[in-house]
Amino acid sequence: MTEIHIFKDMQQMAEFTVLRWAEISKSEVENKGYFSVALSGGRTPETLYKKLSEKKEFPWEKTHVFMVDERFVPYESDENNYHMINTILLRHLNIPPKNIHPILTSDISPETSAQKYEADIISYCKAVRTRQPRFDLILLGIGEDGHTASLFPGTPALKETRNLAVSVCSTGPVTRERITITLPVINNAQNIFFMAEGVGKARVIKEVVEDRNNMLPAAKVRPCNGKLVFLLDQNAASLIPANMIKT
Ligand code: 6PG
Repeated sequence: MTEIHIFKDMQQMAEFTVLRWAEISKSEVENKGYFSVALSGGRTPETLYKKLSEKKEFPWEKTHVFMVDERFVPYESDENNYHMINTILLRHLNIPPKNIHPILTSDISPETSAQKYEADIISYCKAVRTRQPRFDLILLGIGEDGHTASLFPGTPALKETRNLAVSVCSTGPVTRERITITLPVINNAQNIFFMAEGVGKARVIKEVVEDRNNMLPAAKVRPCNGKLVFLLDQNAASLIPANMIKT
């Protein structure tokens, strides 16, 4: 099931997303005692993370936070996704450190970091007695080239079906070496929220949402048994036909 929501600005998108996060996290904590989320970096989610950091009443002590991907740069770098997410969101909340799962990027090779991250995900699955990781919510961004997470067009990682996390070399001007969760992990999530802002994303959003251009990694995100939600500002949604906007 796919939803498309269009917002006048990022504040309105963040307010909506906070409400959905509240619903999902409350329901999952009531049903199974915990809530698991995987977060993306980049600029788009920053407004949301700021708003979430103010929601001290959310069940953070029962929330497990994973990374969708990481640029292979030291934590101290402004490029490091965990640095951004920790600075804007995590350090303001009482999440037990053991519930926060960053991807290692210092004193380690990208390949070993991916293996360690996969082992971390597997031990989490064992702890919560699930065979495969099934995140309650995954927040994804989308690049103008159609990448999402660190799954870039035409790269081998798109075909990965065995590993939960892999090291990749990105294409284009972005940081080259990265670690990312793979499509099977993403598509096994209960809720997948794509967030996109700005006219620069309009073309790729059209190609993913309307044209379903399967050459684009973002178009390969199709939850096996979950909900796919597009959260778009008016500019990013400007090329989507009105008859597609069903929410
Ligand atoms: C990253 C993200 C990446 C991002 C898109 C969109 O590490 O950069 O995981 O997939 O979500 O590139 O980035 P913006 O939100 O900055 O446009």
